[in-house]
Amino acid sequence: MNERKRIPDTPALGKKGGKLHSKRVPLVAGNWKMNTTLVQATSLARNMLGELDGVNGVEKVLCPPFISLAAVHEVLRGSSVKLGAQNMHFEEKGAYTGEVSPAMLAGLCEFVILGHSERRQHFGETDQIVNKKIVLALKNKLRPILCIGERLEDKKSGKTEEIIAGQIAGGLDSVDATREIVIAYEPVWAIGTGISASGEKAAATIGFIRHAVGRLWNSNVAQDLVVLYGGSVTGSNIAEFISYPEIDGALVGGASLQPSEFVSIVSQTAAIKGGSAGS
Ligand code: 13P
Repeated sequence: MNERKRIPDTPALGKKGGKLHSKRVPLVAGNWKMNTTLVQATSLARNMLGELDGVNGVEKVLCPPFISLAAVHEVLRGSSVKLGAQNMHFEEKGAYTGEVSPAMLAGLCEFVILGHSERRQHFGETDQIVNKKIVLALKNKLRPILCIGERLEDKKSGKTEEIIAGQIAGGLDSVDATREIVIAYEPVWAIGTGISASGEKAAATIGFIRHAVGRLWNSNVAQDLVVLYGGSVTGSNIAEFISYPEIDGALVGGASLQPSEFVSIVSQTAAIKGGSAGS
């Protein structure tokens, strides 16, 4: 059976200039992961800020390491570039040595990446833990960027949709329908490998994601959700993804550490999705 036939409510894919559903604002986030010292982080943010600030029609988010959040927050103050954290703890506060609570982030960040595959893989984060974090992030007025995606072995055994449906059902369990959540589809095999998914495949999977969220919540909210692609996105391949109307932007790892690459990704997203650059 053809994959499209298993997603009955998803509109047919097509390269239609990448225009979005009217309520969805495109978003490009840079996940700096465990890179940059305090000095490097502020200088990286400063190096990109002018050009990023000049791009309209796209939400631009930088996600430095925890230790640099306050300093980068100062750099971004007064600009249109927003700040995100890469993780947070699943409790409000308490005896969790070395952890960072949602309340600590709430004054600094608008976004928080949750359930990244590197957290799932190296730190044992389960869908239940991710779910607790989503609930607390929303309670603290942080917008979660919920990361989901299949591993290579899942893809090879044809389990992509099953894995993704499980991550959505588990991660959003008992969460009321909300447009505050951003979902990032990041196939694990595409992260940091230089092997990205094809735009067509990513768009089809994102169509499935919206369908699965629609079944859990309702199709109106699902259609309004911003859903990103992540995994080896660069200035050279971003157009391949965002030219599909299903894909609202990107979660960028390695390329977000290079100012010219990240600015190029953001500018192309604005141009293709109908925003303007340099106004
Ligand atoms: P890369 O862009 O380095 O593949 O990383 C993607 C990612 O994990 C973003 O969260």
